[in-house]
Amino acid sequence: AEPFKIGLLGHGTVGAAFAELLPERADQIAATTGLRPEITGVLTTSRGTFEEILAASDLVVELIGGLEPARGYVLAAMAAGKHVVTANKQLLAHHGEELWAAAREHGVQLRFEAAVAGVVPVIRVLQESLAAAHVDRVHGIVNGTTNFILTQMASTGASYADALAEAQRLGYAEADPSDDVNGKDAAAKMAIIARLAFDTPVHLDDVRYEGIEQITQEDIAYARDLGLSLKLIGTAERVGEGISVRVHPAFLYAGHPLASINGSFNAVTVESPAITEITMSGPGAGGPQTASAVLGDVISAMIPPASTPETTQQLPVVADAESAFYLH
Ligand code: HSE
Repeated sequence: AEPFKIGLLGHGTVGAAFAELLPERADQIAATTGLRPEITGVLTTSRGTFEEILAASDLVVELIGGLEPARGYVLAAMAAGKHVVTANKQLLAHHGEELWAAAREHGVQLRFEAAVAGVVPVIRVLQESLAAAHVDRVHGIVNGTTNFILTQMASTGASYADALAEAQRLGYAEADPSDDVNGKDAAAKMAIIARLAFDTPVHLDDVRYEGIEQITQEDIAYARDLGLSLKLIGTAERVGEGISVRVHPAFLYAGHPLASINGSFNAVTVESPAITEITMSGPGAGGPQTASAVLGDVISAMIPPASTPETTQQLPVVADAESAFYLH
């Protein structure tokens, strides 16, 4: 198979996991697409130059995070005719309109599934499956670090500080975890969700947010005693002729679709009159999980739209597998 050259910007938690995952999956991707993806350059603070990496790539994966120089790199890559895959929620929540306009202008793809809810396919569902739905409201748990902290505090009685340290150790938290705990990370993701759900520009500045820094063990015990869960919830909804986008802690009754989303999992519930409601949930943070979403976007950019799936192997379909009548 011909090589498909990927320039990787950034080698942090997600960048390193992506660099590890890609060679493991390259054979299968080559069998499916006819192109063998390979990383032809990596930009870190200590090695590589952006210009060299751009010149040697068919597609650029931006995993640096932050606004600059990420914004300049993404714009330059698209101006040079390269597709871009990014996991950078702050970049899109601040400069999305400029970047999407540039992608349209240069006829390239800008993919960002990994920027919201990790490997949970929220972006694809909003952009494709629900493209024709009139969305009224989206609720989400879209920050894995805070959901992990709240879950740990409720289930093991861990202190806030210990739970946060554990979330950092597990690779869930941002480089600066204050963006997680103060709600800014979730706010950026809700801005992106609202942008897609309502087809209107939404900037991070439009989102009112509050984090979990003020939550105490008492608040959590109070929730538990009442059979409620305390979660950091993002909401994007139509209000009159406009929209409201906000993030704050909320008590959920036990049967709420988001009440049982625990640990670093994320979940998003989309409400629309025609479809009632769809809830998607799964790993929302972590290097390997987010890298998997990045690679999914890379493959989508590699294959022509509407190509049919090819088989790359022949697995036996087993006749007898044990069935269970109690699923847990
Ligand atoms: N720090 C983020 C979180 C990573 O905890 O959800 C995924 O965007």
